[in-house]
Amino acid sequence: MRRIPKVIIIGVKKCGTRALLEYLKLHPLIKAPGPEPHFFDRNYHPTNDHEITIEKTPRYFVSQDVPEKIYNLSPNVKLVVVIRDPVVRAISDFTQAVSKNEVKSNQTFRRRVLRRDGDINTHSSIVKTGIYVRYLTTWFQYFGRSNIHIVSGEDLIANPLGVLETVQDFIGVQREIDGNLIYFNKTRGFPCIRMLKRNNTAKCFGATKGRNHVQTDSATLKRLYDFYRPYNQYLFKFMNKTFEWNV
Ligand code: A3P
Repeated sequence: MRRIPKVIIIGVKKCGTRALLEYLKLHPLIKAPGPEPHFFDRNYHPTNDHEITIEKTPRYFVSQDVPEKIYNLSPNVKLVVVIRDPVVRAISDFTQAVSKNEVKSNQTFRRRVLRRDGDINTHSSIVKTGIYVRYLTTWFQYFGRSNIHIVSGEDLIANPLGVLETVQDFIGVQREIDGNLIYFNKTRGFPCIRMLKRNNTAKCFGATKGRNHVQTDSATLKRLYDFYRPYNQYLFKFMNKTFEWNV
């Protein structure tokens, strides 16, 4: 039997998608077949009726044809989007690319996001991905407000339990995630999960989440903030919600 997930974390890359998925898996009825199963472009997984299947595939958010594909297969699906300050997201994305050796040795963050003449390189995916409102408006062409829930990546770090309450309500499950299982780990500098079955040892999200970011210069940051400002303002208006970003 082929089943599509009831809930999808569609993005955004480097905004906290993994942490959100791991937290949601603490719910007794929420099942995730794998970290990124690519239901809509590769696999389908069966589940029991009473369970809520969830997947996360951050690439969906920026994929042109995926909103329509998902809508055609599952118009009532619940979509969750995590967004964070787009400048910080861009630095996080570039930091990840550096650590995966996807960046040439002479490439810097500045060179990646700015053109030679100093303008923003709007062809760079690291830049484009942070224009959240551009992608969101496409998603909203297919799905209604009750199908898309936006989560602040900053809140997800500062107040994971508060965020999880709203996400459980959105998904339509009882608030059954045990708040005692998520605690702030000072050494890690991030929330981690208490593993009851493993002597309360901490499950943190590994070295690939919460990396030290590459150094950036303030002029580049300013250019980026200036670039994103109108998009952010449009987003806040569109969502009727403000995010505490450095705008
Ligand atoms: P940084 O590595 O830049 O700090 P994604 O899972 O979508 O790739 O997002 C990674 C980001 O999740 C991390 O970016 C980090 O800021 C954020 N995050 C949120 N909660 C976290 C947690 N409990 N542990 C580690 N990173 C977390």
